[in-house]
Amino acid sequence: MDLHVDLVSGGKRQLSLANPVMTASGTFGNGLEYQKIFDIQRLGAIVSKAITRKPRRGNVQPRIAETAAGMINSIGLQNIGLSAIIRDVAPVWETWEVPVIANIAGETVDDYAELASRLDGVAGVAAIEINISCPNVESGLEFGADPDAANKVTNAVRQRTDLPLIVKLTPNVTDIAGVASAVVDGGADALTLINTYPAMSIDVRTRQPALGWGAGGMSGPALKPIAVRLVYLVSQVVDVPVIGCGGITTGEDAVEFLLAGASAVQVGTATFRSPRAALDVLEGIEAYMREEGVEDVSSLVGAAHESKAEPRPARATG
Ligand code: FUM
Repeated sequence: MDLHVDLVSGGKRQLSLANPVMTASGTFGNGLEYQKIFDIQRLGAIVSKAITRKPRRGNVQPRIAETAAGMINSIGLQNIGLSAIIRDVAPVWETWEVPVIANIAGETVDDYAELASRLDGVAGVAAIEINISCPNVESGLEFGADPDAANKVTNAVRQRTDLPLIVKLTPNVTDIAGVASAVVDGGADALTLINTYPAMSIDVRTRQPALGWGAGGMSGPALKPIAVRLVYLVSQVVDVPVIGCGGITTGEDAVEFLLAGASAVQVGTATFRSPRAALDVLEGIEAYMREEGVEDVSSLVGAAHESKAEPRPARATG
């Protein structure tokens, strides 16, 4: 079976994956702990926790609330900061076979540009994922909610690095296709859909929001149908690969995203239940391909668009 994915290819930028399964940013640390638990080199790629210019302590506790079909987090971009990543973590990534994608987050266009510029050429960093979709900091959605702002930040990053660029979008917009097209025009090589959905949980005993920051971002299985629809929609309007993310727990969940038009997938919240969830998803895709006689995983990508149902963007937005 051929599971190989050329996510970014054709020009001077390349990002090849041994298979379509990545970890989602913020759910796998920087990979260091997980390498002690399972063979992370078998994954398609690892996406780092969001990296900011300076270290961040994150939001006040509690920062996670479980829900009936997922969880809400308000971590607040806690991370060790760019310098520590370059000094202490990237040298470890460099020894890995699995490509590592550095997820970056900023408060200004200059922040993003500076992060990209300093990561450019760092051994161990295979690509950048621009996070313009974090609901847990004041300016987290500022760039992702407006096509012009999304275009500007993508373009600023594009000017500062030759690394493959992925932009991670929020579902919390009325016209995600407009934002997607704007970041592709700004120089994105691929898109990740979707980040968490803004949400809230209230503790009925304390009569207070369950999370210290008040609200947070919803992830997990409840999000999957929302994410599948947006992947289905956006993959028809952009000419770059889409990476599906949202509630993927099994191989069949991942296949659903591939059929909707994703070229690869990210496994996130499932990792909190089982640290090796991403590997289980990969093995589930392989089992599906064996059962269905699929030889090349790329033949699944967008196959649902060819169905007898009316697969029109208008239907997906209606
Ligand atoms: O709060 C957080 O650190 C989450 C980041 C994100 O959803 O992008």
